[in-house]
Amino acid sequence: MVIFRKIQDIKAYISDQKAAGARIGFIPTMGALHAGHASLAAKASEAGNLSVCSIFVNPTQFNDKKDLEKYPVSTESDIEALLAAGCDVLFLPSVDEIYPDGTDAAKTYDFGYLDTILEGAKRPGHFKGVGQVVSRLLEIVQPDSLYMGQKDYQQCMVVRKLIELMGANIEMVICPTTREADGLAMSSRNRRLTEPQRALAGIIYQCLVSIQSKKDNTAFDIVRKECEDLLAAKGFITEYVALANANDLSLLDNYNKDIPMVALIAARIGEIRLIDNLLL
Ligand code: PAJ
Repeated sequence: MVIFRKIQDIKAYISDQKAAGARIGFIPTMGALHAGHASLAAKASEAGNLSVCSIFVNPTQFNDKKDLEKYPVSTESDIEALLAAGCDVLFLPSVDEIYPDGTDAAKTYDFGYLDTILEGAKRPGHFKGVGQVVSRLLEIVQPDSLYMGQKDYQQCMVVRKLIELMGANIEMVICPTTREADGLAMSSRNRRLTEPQRALAGIIYQCLVSIQSKKDNTAFDIVRKECEDLLAAKGFITEYVALANANDLSLLDNYNKDIPMVALIAARIGEIRLIDNLLL
């Protein structure tokens, strides 16, 4: 695996590889890597790409400063994980490298409706920051395919829209969510759960499964209330239990057999905010 810290160096390397016929599969991350991230890198390699992963804790997407300060950093073990996953190139830029004129000067994109609901509503400015960093990384890496996790469903839709707004020709590959044995979606933030919190966290996935299993025989507002009560009983503060059209994320009041649906949950336990979703 080749590691680059400077934009001009990775650009030169990628341009040589492309000239020699390589296809570039890109996996942007913020590090603190787990098996979910590794699955994206492995998929990119298996598809015959030169797999390029980035690790950059992007300051502009943290609406909560404490979350940024406490974001786990584990570069050495991340490098080990990427080697094991068969990653070819790692990009490890500094904040100055990505935002040479400061974060305020970074180009922004308007995601419209997508930025007004769910994560967009609960984390103002978050997707603006995601758009800033992903557009910058795409311009640097110039990938043919972009590998992202369904775990962050709304982020996938935002980035799909970003690619459209940038007028870029990049294939988006959305990869399934890697889960722990109890169903908890793997997340870098899981490292911050205490043991008792971790023991309860599988409840989010159980709620999603129950939303799925009741789709043919119960009204969604009843199922939503059951989930909210269950989460509250376990000590979670629910931010949303939502049902949406899986194609455009328009919110649904009730199940609709005629359209693809996705259930989405965000809940906090202690200081940790967890999100997950399931296609129904
Ligand atoms: P991060 O949270 O590090 O996630 C990097 C990629 O890994 C994202 O595409 C995310 O959806 C995916 N991922 C996370 N958990 C996963 C899991 N359990 N199973 C499968 N894939 C998973 O998302 C970000 O970073 C940032 O917002 C980023 C896109 C890098 C921009 O800064």
